[in-house]
Amino acid sequence: MLIDVDDDADPVGQVVVRHLCDEGIVSSVVYRRETASTNSMAAEGVMPSTPALFLADRQTSGRGRHGRRWVSDDGTLTFSVVFEWSPTDARFGGLLPIVAGVAIARTFEFVFAPIRVRLKWPNDIHADGGKVAGILCEANQSAPGRVVVGIGVNVGSEPDLADDQTNRARSLSTIVGRPLRRYDVLPEIVGQLVTAVEEAKSDPVVFVSEFRQRCLLSGQKIIASVDGNPATGVCQGIDDFGGLLIDTPMGTKVCSTGEATIVSRRH
Ligand code: BTN
Repeated sequence: MLIDVDDDADPVGQVVVRHLCDEGIVSSVVYRRETASTNSMAAEGVMPSTPALFLADRQTSGRGRHGRRWVSDDGTLTFSVVFEWSPTDARFGGLLPIVAGVAIARTFEFVFAPIRVRLKWPNDIHADGGKVAGILCEANQSAPGRVVVGIGVNVGSEPDLADDQTNRARSLSTIVGRPLRRYDVLPEIVGQLVTAVEEAKSDPVVFVSEFRQRCLLSGQKIIASVDGNPATGVCQGIDDFGGLLIDTPMGTKVCSTGEATIVSRRH
């Protein structure tokens, strides 16, 4: 068991990561007071076993999807977990972002009931009309079959979403109407995430079905890129392997990567 914690890291965070190790929820922890990006730390680190948690009180170069910046502050939770992820049926290989999104939705709906979480494909976490959390999944270059799941959660503050013009930020604190400390929600999120990834290895379809129930884009007129060309139509949710289904005048198209934008809001 590797526990590498900076002495000057947040004392509440230190208690929480020791609990996660003691309970066997994660098999190792690297916890920094400050780092460029926990995803970069996780991608570079060669951990003896998984799940491996990388946590930081502060990121100086947090990264979002599509090369965007991820801006965080003292109210934001920023961490990454490395998992073994190589499904025997390769068609499920791209499902990890969907699984992680559902795990976070389950956490928020359980801890902050009756909050209602919506998932914006592929893995933005929305509640009360704004983005509460984002996920960045990246391959671990040094260890084939290992994937880094990086998560940023607006717990007690709503930092600017930087160059992401398609979303507006929302914090859990604002939604539930009381102050929340970022490390209070960490154990539940990590626990649900670890459980979900294990469950998905044997039963990935459950996560597809749960995503569909919370799909923010379903029924909306959207535009997304399909094989390099823009496709416009009404979103029909996701297929069994996590691709976004778009009902266009030329038939149903499947968007496998990228992101979708709502062009006109319906209902
Ligand atoms: C997005 O919504 O575009 C994804 C945001 C992911 C941010 C998290 S914060 C922890 C981890 N480290 C990073 O540099 N990014 C992810």
